[in-house]
Amino acid sequence: MNELRVGILGYGVVGRGVVRLLLEHGGLLADRGGLPLRLVRIATRTPGRDRGIPLGDVALTDDLTQVTQGEDIDVVVEVMGGIEPARTSILHALQRGKHVVTANKALIAEHGSELFAQSSEQGRELLFEAAVAGAVPVIKAVRESLASNRLDRVYGILNGTCNYILTEMRERGLPFDAVLAEAQAKGYAEADPTLDVEGIDAAHKLAILAAIAFGAPLSFSKITIEGIRNIAEVDIAWATEMGYRIKLLCIAKRSDGKLDLRVQPTMVPVRSMIAGVEGVFNAVFVHGDYSGPGMFYGRGAGEGPTASAVVADLLDLARAAKAGCAAGRVPPLGTALDRLESLPIRGLDELRGEYYIRLAVLDRPGVLADITHILKRHEISIDAIHQKGRSPSEAVPLVLLTHETSEQRVQAAVRDIAELKTVHSRPQVIRIENIPS
Ligand SMILES: NC(=O)c1ccc[n+]([C@@H]2O[C@H](COP(=O)([O-])OP(=O)(O)OC[C@H]3O[C@@H](n4cnc5c(N)ncnc54)[C@H](OP(=O)(O)O)[C@@H]3O)[C@@H](O)[C@H]2O)c1
Repeated sequence: MNELRVGILGYGVVGRGVVRLLLEHGGLLADRGGLPLRLVRIATRTPGRDRGIPLGDVALTDDLTQVTQGEDIDVVVEVMGGIEPARTSILHALQRGKHVVTANKALIAEHGSELFAQSSEQGRELLFEAAVAGAVPVIKAVRESLASNRLDRVYGILNGTCNYILTEMRERGLPFDAVLAEAQAKGYAEADPTLDVEGIDAAHKLAILAAIAFGAPLSFSKITIEGIRNIAEVDIAWATEMGYRIKLLCIAKRSDGKLDLRVQPTMVPVRSMIAGVEGVFNAVFVHGDYSGPGMFYGRGAGEGPTASAVVADLLDLARAAKAGCAAGRVPPLGTALDRLESLPIRGLDELRGEYYIRLAVLDRPGVLADITHILKRHEISIDAIHQKGRSPSEAVPLVLLTHETSEQRVQAAVRDIAELKTVHSRPQVIRIENIPS
């Protein structure tokens, strides 16, 4: 083989970045890969739309099969997004003996097992560095550079849109809706922000990372997911006052043969490294038994950062082709597919932690006694109580921090507290995760 012939499915944000990078860095990529990476064809729904990139003799088509089945293509880059037709296109490309590179986290998280089985059967690579944290090389780091460790904890800030919104809410004291509208106007958030703000996008990435970190099959459907819509500016202000930051935290922990997999708004100590990850940036904190703690940090999305990861995967393929290596040197999830070990996922009744509970209460004699009585009944002990302001007629915020307890108890106690006539509006509960500095 004297060149690697590339076909692309999708010519949107990431597709454009990949095309630009391949065309602008041609010489550098050939030097590093040992072979030129030649862009042959791009398939997209609207091939006639001008993207402002001079393509020379690169062909454009709206027929996906001209890429997935093309005899003149060695590698298919899938950057269309969504489940179909991306899934079927990748399966077809693998069946036709092509390697595949994708940035599609939803597809890998939800259908990865099927796709990996197909790539292994066909003896072809399916690479997906860009699917988690964009330019941050965390798949390779966890799968290869930390492969000698037993990992017990992975924490991630994996959705730049949510991190941007939470950062702006704190810095400018604005409510969620106002910051979201601004983020949409600036193009940092989609017109339909559901996948981001409801935590689903972050959970797709966590499913992939956790499978690699723990040698377990992909378990997206088992992740507890909670988004950031209900976080109020008052929670962020309280967190700051008490020495915490609120982050949409991805948590994957293994202990006693069980996994804890969650994406939820979480208070982390302000002195922890992950608390310092602000704005659109992403980070992944990993703890290994020999490596100790470490954190990877950088830009998790956008045209350039995502293209950087996609093209790095293409370079891996070029290097392997140049060296005559067979596919499958590194299994997609780091552990051989037939040696992945399914671990039980911890239920709510087994989750323990410290919790922030914010109530809006009428400032009447006996209110606090009623609340502490309920907490006592549920065997929850209180670390601190804070109250701000006094009003004979309006509800005022009352904040409780618990000692370590079970999440199930907290949820049950909060349900009972919400029944009190002196408690107005839905109580807010946020988990505290004491991540090491
Ligand atoms: N954007 C990021 O920062 C980022 C970061 C990491 C990973 N990713 C992942 O990368 C993938 C692409 O994201 P993106 O932001 O580049 O999306 P995008 O801007 O919406 O682009 C998608 C492209 O795919 C084409 N397409 C979609 N469905 C098609 C179909 N049925 N047939 C032919 N072409 C089709 C679209 O065609 P038309 O334009 O012609 O309609 C468009 O060119 C997604 O899986 C996403 O999760 C994105």
